[in-house]
Amino acid sequence: MKIAIGCDHGGYELKEQLRRYLSNNGHEVVDCGTYSVESVHYPVFAKMVAKKVQRGDVERGIVVCTTGEGVAIAANRYKGVRCGIAYNDEVARLMRAHNDANVISFGARFTSLEDAIRRVELFLNTNFEGGRHQIRVEMLDED
Ligand code: RB5
Repeated sequence: MKIAIGCDHGGYELKEQLRRYLSNNGHEVVDCGTYSVESVHYPVFAKMVAKKVQRGDVERGIVVCTTGEGVAIAANRYKGVRCGIAYNDEVARLMRAHNDANVISFGARFTSLEDAIRRVELFLNTNFEGGRHQIRVEMLDED
């Protein structure tokens, strides 16, 4: 799958680990930065990931900051982007099944690599259920 990934300084280490994991497992990863632990502004990197998802350049996005909150808030400002914070495994599955999430967010300070990998796999491998959830997802893009 083609996946965009981005982070701020707080998410850099986890982003790098996830990027390597995904590349080693056959995915095409578009790395939107940041590329070091030097302090940066998270909206810049969340926007790069969100715009790639919005344009259909990639199928899914991953954003990481210290808490997972800033990058999720930023990503969700772009129409057509649905970003959920994966605070446990079941939520990572449900954000796909019920919300058709196309971006997943992690708080690096609160998420081990093992947990993040399991949740990314759930995010990538769970289908949207549609049905009663379809109209709700469509409503998200109404003005
Ligand atoms: C950076 O210190 C921190 O504020 C940022 O990584 C993020 O968690 C913001 O939401």
